[in-house]
Amino acid sequence: MEREWGLTCYAALALLWLLLFSPGASAAHGWRGEVRSVKVRTEVTLRYAATQINVQLRNPSSDPDHVTLALALPHNAFVSKLTIEVGGQNTTTEVKEKKRRRRPASDSTPNSPRTHRQGHQDIKRFKAQARVGALQDAVFYLTYEQLLQRAHGCYTCTLYLPPYTGKGEEEGDGRGGRGGSDVVVQVREKEAINDLVVERSGVARRYVQEKKVVSPSEVHISFRYNNNNNNNNNNNNNKSTDVSAIFISYDVERQADGGEIQVLGEFFVHYLSPEGLPRLPTHTVFALDVSGSMSDDGKLDALKEAVVDILNTLSPDDTFEVLAFSTRVRSLGVYRGVPREVAEGAAMVRRLQALGGTNFNDAL
Ligand SMILES: *[C@@H]1O[C@H](CO)[C@@H](O)[C@H](O)[C@H]1NC(C)=O
Ligand SMILES: *[C@@H]1O[C@H](CO)[C@@H](O)[C@H](O)[C@H]1NC(C)=O
Repeated sequence: MEREWGLTCYAALALLWLLLFSPGASAAHGWRGEVRSVKVRTEVTLRYAATQINVQLRNPSSDPDHVTLALALPHNAFVSKLTIEVGGQNTTTEVKEKKRRRRPASDSTPNSPRTHRQGHQDIKRFKAQARVGALQDAVFYLTYEQLLQRAHGCYTCTLYLPPYTGKGEEEGDGRGGRGGSDVVVQVREKEAINDLVVERSGVARRYVQEKKVVSPSEVHISFRYNNNNNNNNNNNNNKSTDVSAIFISYDVERQADGGEIQVLGEFFVHYLSPEGLPRLPTHTVFALDVSGSMSDDGKLDALKEAVVDILNTLSPDDTFEVLAFSTRVRSLGVYRGVPREVAEGAAMVRRLQALGGTNFNDAL
């Protein structure tokens, strides 16, 4: 997709695409321009994470040139909004996903607890470019959303950080709080938050952390980049290829039956996370809202992704049923958790289209 915008001074040509990131590539891979400031704001509400990331990129050359944002995103994140500010003008664009590859089944091989986050196979890379004048900046305002999945006994919110190196710190405030780099994460749950662990890898180790427990079910964590932050004995094994990321993992107080249904905005989410062994077969009913409003902002696509991801975690002796409701309710059938039927159910889910009004009552 390529399009011209009639921006005044530095007519911008923006090129947007999403592509999959090849594991092991360096953290700064694909970036162009000088990262002058980074602000990350994440709100996790009932395990649904919405992240706003603002990156100010400068063209350091004395000629007009383009700058490139090349963010890593969690594999199941979807970008809901991108605004690019160049020469004091904002342009908001629609973001299209370029291609999608199913994760290989081997991804589900169990790891020892909490080490899975160091494997970065599950990253996808988001790129956006803007053309800017000599020594001018472009600011990218990106919003992405993601349903956190429970794996290895916890939910993990991973924030991949841009390759900020401390330039522009002195520019401080005055222009909407720019300058420097900081990250603020807020987690709000219904149940008490347990086992909160914060980890950092790569350059993210330079971020100084401050944690505030607001209540048993609400935590506020902030990080600020500090070039002199050496108070950490892991410094010797930092490789430049380490992805710069902050990992926040936690669990919530669980109910005895291990299952839980929540209504998140217009989404229904069934959390299925039995703890005890032996594990009992489960029957899961997914009630999916396919009313017209779900066609906005890729909501239905996000819902489908979330459901398909959950289906892939079922065991062969589980069963599930998918209900689609708008003005009417229809069942897409009852399936067993064996690979062939999961694939069949997933294909039915993927074919769903949004239309009609919402009829919650009959579906429930
Ligand atoms: C551009 O959009 C961002 C994010 O919505 C906003 O913070 C900023 O002030 C806007 N800038 C201009 C020049 O309107
Ligand atoms: C850690 O990495 C940074 C840049 O990535 C480098 O400047 C620094 O020297 C490294 N520290 C050690 C102890 O190798």
